[in-house]
Amino acid sequence: MYYYGVVVFSVLFGVSWSDKLLTFPPGFKFGASTSAYQIEGGWNASDKGESIFDRLYHERPDASMDHSNGEIACDSYHQWRRDIDMIAEMGLHVYRFSISWPRLLPTGFNNYISEAGKNYYNNLIDGLLARNIEPLITIFHFDLPQSIQDLGGWANPLIADWFTDYARVVYTLFGDRVKMWITLNEPMAICDGGYGDFLAPKIVDPDVGLYLCSKNVVLAHAKAWRVYDEEFKPKYHGKVSMTNLFFWYEPVSDEDKETTDLMLEYCEGRFSHPIYSKEGGWPKKLQKLITEQGYEQGYWRPRMPEFTEEEIKFIRGTYDFYALNHYTTNLVKKAKPGEKVGAWPFDGQPIIGANFQKGNGWKTAAPSWFYIYPEGLRHQLNWIRENYGDITIFITENGYAGGSTGLRDQERIDSMRDNLEQTWLAIYEDGIDIRGYITWSLMDNFEWIGGYSVKYGLYEVDFNSTERTRTPRESALYYERVVKTGSVFVHSDEDKHIEL
Ligand SMILES: *[C@@H]1O[C@H](CO)[C@@H](O)[C@H](O)[C@H]1NC(C)=O
Ligand SMILES: *[C@@H]1O[C@H](CO)[C@@H](O)[C@H](O)[C@H]1NC(C)=O
Repeated sequence: MYYYGVVVFSVLFGVSWSDKLLTFPPGFKFGASTSAYQIEGGWNASDKGESIFDRLYHERPDASMDHSNGEIACDSYHQWRRDIDMIAEMGLHVYRFSISWPRLLPTGFNNYISEAGKNYYNNLIDGLLARNIEPLITIFHFDLPQSIQDLGGWANPLIADWFTDYARVVYTLFGDRVKMWITLNEPMAICDGGYGDFLAPKIVDPDVGLYLCSKNVVLAHAKAWRVYDEEFKPKYHGKVSMTNLFFWYEPVSDEDKETTDLMLEYCEGRFSHPIYSKEGGWPKKLQKLITEQGYEQGYWRPRMPEFTEEEIKFIRGTYDFYALNHYTTNLVKKAKPGEKVGAWPFDGQPIIGANFQKGNGWKTAAPSWFYIYPEGLRHQLNWIRENYGDITIFITENGYAGGSTGLRDQERIDSMRDNLEQTWLAIYEDGIDIRGYITWSLMDNFEWIGGYSVKYGLYEVDFNSTERTRTPRESALYYERVVKTGSVFVHSDEDKHIEL
């Protein structure tokens, strides 16, 4: 309570407080994020179609660490009113959630729209707006209809049209009330996960499938952006972008700088350069590296399919803001010739010849790969501006992966405060135009390969109860204060712990 008093006092009376009260700009939006497969459950409710994750986890229960799946998850298909209550309890401005493509379009195509699917999302959107919460919709967050996968999924170039048809249905149904859109979540996860060994469809094809997917996701985004821009923006005035997952990288020493730059091109540039850079197309050094490696392996064509001149123009500029998901930072050590390179994405990246390591004194969250280095967020915000200019940025995911259950989660509070401090510094010291911070996640949910054993929630979910009872953690109370005051309070001393 002491802490709260100081904040209110400082905000009301403009006291300059030596222990740094960091106040965000007026209109800065705070929110929380989820995704359909990770929370909804109701996998076979009414006429919903099968998704690639329904198929994967039914056929291969070992695809998640604890052999669980999202059949029921948080049961948000039935508990969505409680979800809205939680968002309102914290006073959040924005709720970012995703639409399940096979729930809305059970065949994967536009020939048939599910009435039940449509009602579910209409209820959720109207319920949010009634509480003054802005819906931010992710159109695609990994759960592809199995019917589309059977036709080649993200490796088939026609998917750009199929996705755009689906996006058009979504804009038509919900565009009157939804003003913020994400076309695709984390293209790197879609391609490197889906054609690696992590996410559905788990077709391990890092030589070819991975790069077909990389091109097709970018084209799908661009087409869906243009459809909104031409047909919907004139009447609804909304904004559309794609969300990038960005593992941030810094070099161990000067001789690792070039390798680090390539890592950033691989992770970030691959899906940003075609859209945000002035020249468009693939990042040049990365394209050259991948193409030459492919020729050495005996491929006759560039492994990463080239864009035509027309495609380069079509894709360039298809954004209204930059959406960034940030979790962790790795240090990059250039592999010596013949040296073993760790497995992508957590230990190294063989294509680049990069090994990863933890910085001195960095702590680790529950998963062993999740290093804590909040300064990385500010550095990468600066990288985005240096590479793509003064773009409006929304942080669409940032959070802390805990392991043990329980309501006391000081580590999550520390992480949120430290990341918000870096965001504030990026705004006020570096002059970057950041308009919002959306944390992952509203509640514990099905964390893909991590199952239910990895917990990101501000609210704890009891996955043993039929109602999937949700209880606020201390971090939820902390976030509520941050949102109410529009400020974070950063102690200048070593002990940053906050009395709740
Ligand atoms: C839905 O799936 C559950 C298993 O998760 C099963 O028990 C139930 O019978 C299925 N319902 C329908 C309508 O197929
Ligand atoms: C849920 O039940 C399982 C056993 O069925 C148990 O191992 C686990 O600890 C329980 N979780 C909670 C939160 O009670």
